Amino acid sequence: MESTQGSISATFHHSARDDIVQVFKKWDANKDGFISRESLVEILAKVGMKESDANAFMSTVSTSDQLQYADFVEWLCFPKAMVQSGVVPLNASFLGRTCKFFVGTNWKCSLESIESVDSLIADLNKMWLDDGASMSEVELCIFPPYVFLDRVRQQLHREIRVGSQNAWDAAPGFKSTGVISAEMMHSIGCRWVLLGHSDRRNVLGETDTLIHDKVTKCLEAGLSVNLTIGETREARDAGNAISTLVDQLSAAVAHVPGDAWGRIALAYEPVWAIGEGATPCTPEETQRVLAALRAWIRDNAGPDAARACRLLYTGSVNENNAEVYARLPDVDGFVVGRAGLHISKLKSICKSLPKCNVPAGL
Ligand code: PGA
Repeated sequence: MESTQGSISATFHHSARDDIVQVFKKWDANKDGFISRESLVEILAKVGMKESDANAFMSTVSTSDQLQYADFVEWLCFPKAMVQSGVVPLNASFLGRTCKFFVGTNWKCSLESIESVDSLIADLNKMWLDDGASMSEVELCIFPPYVFLDRVRQQLHREIRVGSQNAWDAAPGFKSTGVISAEMMHSIGCRWVLLGHSDRRNVLGETDTLIHDKVTKCLEAGLSVNLTIGETREARDAGNAISTLVDQLSAAVAHVPGDAWGRIALAYEPVWAIGEGATPCTPEETQRVLAALRAWIRDNAGPDAARACRLLYTGSVNENNAEVYARLPDVDGFVVGRAGLHISKLKSICKSLPKCNVPAGL
């Protein structure tokens, strides 16, 4: 797709959002497989694009006066790519992205005392008060261990989400001795749960079936799911990275209702790339994997699901490399381990995401 960047007005009016929704509604009602030049120009005008630029864009993507509806939907599925190609001036979230970027911080067992938890909560609250406005495009979610969940939820700034690192244990849905149910977490204000992490798959032996059952039960209880999938070094070396990921994904999301995909943030976590001394997956390879996962979701759950589900990268993300990953077309956020325990690092990581949405030069 040829870039029209440079000739496009950099002005973006958030107030146009309602107008755009109206245009979409009208257009959707009349859809016959194509979108006309006139409708496209009308939509693009709402994002501050001049008519002449919209016409020029239309000419670069279609030789006729209409664009295939399916192509346009595809295009809307990847708003960040659209922004980066210079087609629209700023974040196209109102077009294709129904959710914010996502940053999860997995505390694992790093903090084991109330004092250390309180101190990090205080730092997080200060960060949000000082800098929250510049991170308004990011949904930040803290994942503490069970025992600190209620404390963190009570004390943390309300705009920062709280999620659990697990739900249930061996028998999702079984409510008895020692069980922590998704309903309990929901009742204390948790909105997310982390499922499928390699620590639990590979060390504690969680199977695809168990993860599927947890995903199903947690979604039913109203939680959003941060689903993690990742291949081992052995699987990668054997050339089985994508097939391993697809096996894990297809098992976990079997039976997920179409309207629940907006409550799934899918994290690609190469097992060999996490933890002390590990090397992160290269940006090129990360993009290749995420694009394959997005395509799988589109082909198996539909374009709406592919658009609604956020794709995350996790594995040695830090304040120095976040921006490179944030610029990848299919990265909608991160899950961080070590870096999430240091406020200045976390702040840089959160800020890298909105920044990536502004084409160079604007
Ligand atoms: P890391 O951990 O960011 O410290 O590599 C990531 C994870 O385990 O999810």
